[in-house]
Amino acid sequence: MNITVVGAGIVGSAIAHELASRGARVQLIDSRGVARGATHASAGILAPQIEGHIPELRKLAAHSLAMYDDFVRRVERASNRSIEYGRNGTLQVALDDREAAMLAGDAQALARNGVEYTVLDREAARRLVPSLSDRATSALLVPSHGYVAASALTEAVVDAARAHGVRLITAAVRGIEGGAGKARVTTDEGIIESDVVIVASGSWMVPSRPAEGPSVKPIRGQLVQLRCDAALASQVIWGQACYLVPWSDGTVLVGATVEDVGYDERPTAEGVRSLLSAAIGLVPSLERAQFEEVRVGFRPKATDELPIIGRSEAMPSVFYAVGHYRNGVLLAPLTAALMADLVLEDRERAELALVRPGRLANA
Ligand code: GLY
Repeated sequence: MNITVVGAGIVGSAIAHELASRGARVQLIDSRGVARGATHASAGILAPQIEGHIPELRKLAAHSLAMYDDFVRRVERASNRSIEYGRNGTLQVALDDREAAMLAGDAQALARNGVEYTVLDREAARRLVPSLSDRATSALLVPSHGYVAASALTEAVVDAARAHGVRLITAAVRGIEGGAGKARVTTDEGIIESDVVIVASGSWMVPSRPAEGPSVKPIRGQLVQLRCDAALASQVIWGQACYLVPWSDGTVLVGATVEDVGYDERPTAEGVRSLLSAAIGLVPSLERAQFEEVRVGFRPKATDELPIIGRSEAMPSVFYAVGHYRNGVLLAPLTAALMADLVLEDRERAELALVRPGRLANA
């Protein structure tokens, strides 16, 4: 089968890799190249129990997290790259009594759902992360969580995909058309015909004939990158106003703003100020960290916060894998497997019932 995947972020790249590794002929197309949209501004947090805001999403995200070790190992092997990936947990930190009460509530929910966790008092939290603010009153450790370097992962996925013959095309997509058994993608470099098109272009939906397209809204996230002399911690640190993702080389990602401002990709002084102030509130020594850069991306949000994965209602040869909102990196392995089963084997797995494109009013 000949397949065109539109969008070379983590979701599109993982799909292209999965399809090609199962024998499909795949072209992956993106106007900006690999991992230049939302993936570029992602901190790569893998935390279903924090970021799965509704039970259905938590379930999908936990399923995808269970696939992550294999996914990373497979991509590392095929690309011959090593990827920053840690599974030492998330540490949610309370800085006052109100936040401590919220964490206690979160801990009860974890207990009800059978998820392993530990509640730490101030001393235990500071033993785990000595640089934590002395304002910390308690913390909640969820050991199954983790993080991955999202851009490096995506580049490695694309290298692995290329090893399976995937062709990467850098061109803007102007439109798609999908009849039964034939699909056409119009780009500014020419027309690409294939059996199937998969749209994985995040917040950027492409015009189609007949006109349709699941509705996703761009939610801007600003992410600051700092550098310390040594690794700050081996857990993701999560506060009420920011999260910190410390890498083993001293990099610290501070994220992220959540802004409904349309397609404005410019970082703002207020965004950076609020992130830095929250980060220093959690870990005061970050005051002395080097400021490296600020990155901006759009989280593609569907009204119900679930991703949109499945066959188009109007175009039988077009499929969607968009709307992953805060969890594109986390949901990539599951999305790729669901999509490959659907497209190559016509196997509609049960998970797809939750996320089908037609469930939303404007789809
Ligand atoms: N998943 C982290 C974020 O969207 O900010």
